[in-house]
Amino acid sequence: MERTFAIIKPDAVERNLIGKILERIESKGFRIAAMKRARLTLEQAEGFYHVHKERPFFKDLTTYMSAGGPVVLLVLEKDNAITGWRELMGATNPKDAADGTIRKEFAVDIEKNSVHGSDSPENAAFEISYFFSQTEILS
Ligand code: PPS
Repeated sequence: MERTFAIIKPDAVERNLIGKILERIESKGFRIAAMKRARLTLEQAEGFYHVHKERPFFKDLTTYMSAGGPVVLLVLEKDNAITGWRELMGATNPKDAADGTIRKEFAVDIEKNSVHGSDSPENAAFEISYFFSQTEILS
């Protein structure tokens, strides 16, 4: 059993897609081990995305994620959860996302791409602990 970290991003929360996205997650066999809504500060977003700080989109990404729209933070559990969640999300740019993926169906563009998922076990551990304490995660 592996854990990954997911975010339902502001564009999806704003369009009332939380339920539809959670339905996709649960129907693929993920367990929701932790979940909360949050409004990110710019400092939180910059810390969370620090691995991307040299990339050209860093300012746009962190500004977007902290612009005031709430997000939903999730810890997901399943065998091969990291890969499985990234497959279910689809490609970063919805133009490249495969049919049947969340980004293909719901994302607006490469910034408003509806969901986030950890890309490695190391990043999953960092991202989960960035937002959740151990006592908030119930397997
Ligand atoms: S990956 O696979 O996670 O490394 O994808 P990557 O393409 O490197 O993108 C990393 C995160 O940056 C976001 N992104 C952008 N945001 C705003 N504008 C532009 N142009 C842009 N390009 C990439 C992308 O959605 C990823 O965010 P997360 O939250 O990690 O999904």
